[in-house]
Amino acid sequence: MNKKEKVTMVFGLLGNPVGHSLSPLMHNAAYREIQLDAVYVSFCVNDLEGAIRGIRALDIKGVSVTIPFKTAVLPLLDEVDECARAIGAVNTIVNDCGRLTGFNTDWIGLVRSLEESTDLKGKTFAVIGAGGTARAAVFGIRERGGVPVVVNRSEERGRRLAFEFGCRFFRLDEVEKVEADCLINTTPAGMAPQEETMPVDGRNIARFRWVFDVIYRPWRTRFLEEAEKAGAETMNGARMLVYQGAEQIRLWTGQEPPVALMHRVVREQLEAEKSGGL
Ligand SMILES: NC(=O)c1ccc[n+]([C@@H]2O[C@H](COP(=O)([O-])OP(=O)(O)OC[C@H]3O[C@@H](n4cnc5c(N)ncnc54)[C@H](OP(=O)(O)O)[C@@H]3O)[C@@H](O)[C@H]2O)c1
Repeated sequence: MNKKEKVTMVFGLLGNPVGHSLSPLMHNAAYREIQLDAVYVSFCVNDLEGAIRGIRALDIKGVSVTIPFKTAVLPLLDEVDECARAIGAVNTIVNDCGRLTGFNTDWIGLVRSLEESTDLKGKTFAVIGAGGTARAAVFGIRERGGVPVVVNRSEERGRRLAFEFGCRFFRLDEVEKVEADCLINTTPAGMAPQEETMPVDGRNIARFRWVFDVIYRPWRTRFLEEAEKAGAETMNGARMLVYQGAEQIRLWTGQEPPVALMHRVVREQLEAEKSGGL
């Protein structure tokens, strides 16, 4: 075998389902822009252990990991970085000559998005949800010196997360008692095709200066529309998607990702979907 043979690098997404992911579009556009001889493909996985063996066997240089494997993948890796371990979820695997290391770039994506609106230090962030994305949010907010508060539908899960990270907890039906600078939805409530659902009632959104939704399909959730009506500064999850992907490119290639272009292709695709063009 010629170890020095130069072949197109392969990156991919492990998940199930994967059909609606914007990652292939975003990553492939980025590789073209930085003239990297690489492709990014989605793998709809039924056998996670087999897929992980396949990464090594096929010398796939790196993969993104999504629902439902972000936690299940941890014990299958050679190493898990400190942040991903604290969050309890891996969304990125780097393959270094067959040695697989797990990272979490969701928290970086989320924090960078928030930092476009405000410095996090000393501010309070009410995080709705207690799943993987909420864990990344709570971790990231704390990393940047902010104060997270957990708000969740199921009390047990919410309390567990709050206890683990030493923060306050409120049940979702107590959200009117929460005082914070920013309200963040990390639940799938409002995501297409359930666009009419909201994680909290509209009248509970009015008192927050910043309102952030991790959802980007639809581009504007009802939650964000209500927040805008109430005068809040809002942001959807598209920047988070771009920034978490940008960090993956840094980890996999060491190159600087073309963030503006990545954001543009994501936005254009979502706008085209909305208008029924694609
Ligand atoms: N923008 C991005 O780059 C990005 C990155 C990652 C994820 N996401 C999005 O983040 C969302 C959450 O993903 P996840 O992996 O964290 O999910 P998850 O682990 O399944 O957690 C979902 C959380 O949402 C709560 N929840 C679900 N439906 C709800 C409803 N109708 N009302 C109130 N709470 C509800 C659940 O509450 P219980 O505990 O009571 O069940 C749970 O705490 C998804 O929409 C995903 O697409 C976006």
